[in-house]
Amino acid sequence: MACAMAALLLHGCGRDQPVPAADVRTLMLEQVQPVAQTYWDSVQYVSDSSGSHEIFPRNDAEWQRVETAAKRLGALGEALKTPAYANGRNADWQDFAQGLIDVSKLAAQAAAEKNRDRIFEVGGTIYNVCAACHQTYLPKTATPPPPPSGANAATAR
Ligand code: HEC
Repeated sequence: MACAMAALLLHGCGRDQPVPAADVRTLMLEQVQPVAQTYWDSVQYVSDSSGSHEIFPRNDAEWQRVETAAKRLGALGEALKTPAYANGRNADWQDFAQGLIDVSKLAAQAAAEKNRDRIFEVGGTIYNVCAACHQTYLPKTATPPPPPSGANAATAR
């Protein structure tokens, strides 16, 4: 038998496309999602029985945390472009990953400027960047991650 059963199960036999070496799902669940959530959670418009409230960073350390999250998203975009994650994907994978890098710069700038409206707005763009790649590359069996709570609140605003 020309190809071992384990290799066959993992990659198929006689494939000519290299497969990604690293686990995209783990990167998404353990890093991309929590880091994006930190950004999305930083500015929110919440309505409850006591009225409308705006949640936003209250001190330099909190603003810094938002800026760090934004930069981290860019670094994760860079990671997604490396062969470990990109091997075997089409060219649009690089575009989607670059989209994350590009939006992370806007996100970091909004945080550096302490511009709440801009953070909220860029947060929506980040979600669109995630969704664009998922539309093409999320396996049909996977559950797409939920939109950020801030975006939900925005429609109720
Ligand atoms: C360059 C493409 C790409 C970008 C950009 C991207 N993802 Fe993903 N994401 C994937 C792929 C591919 C999977 C499926 C991994 C698998 O199941 O093998 C995935 C899966 C996930 C999952 C796990 C879903 C599940 O339960 O199986 C989460 C959560 C997630 N992404 C969050 C995000 C968030 C949040 C963003 C934006 C900040 C984002 N992703 C941006 C490609 C991308």
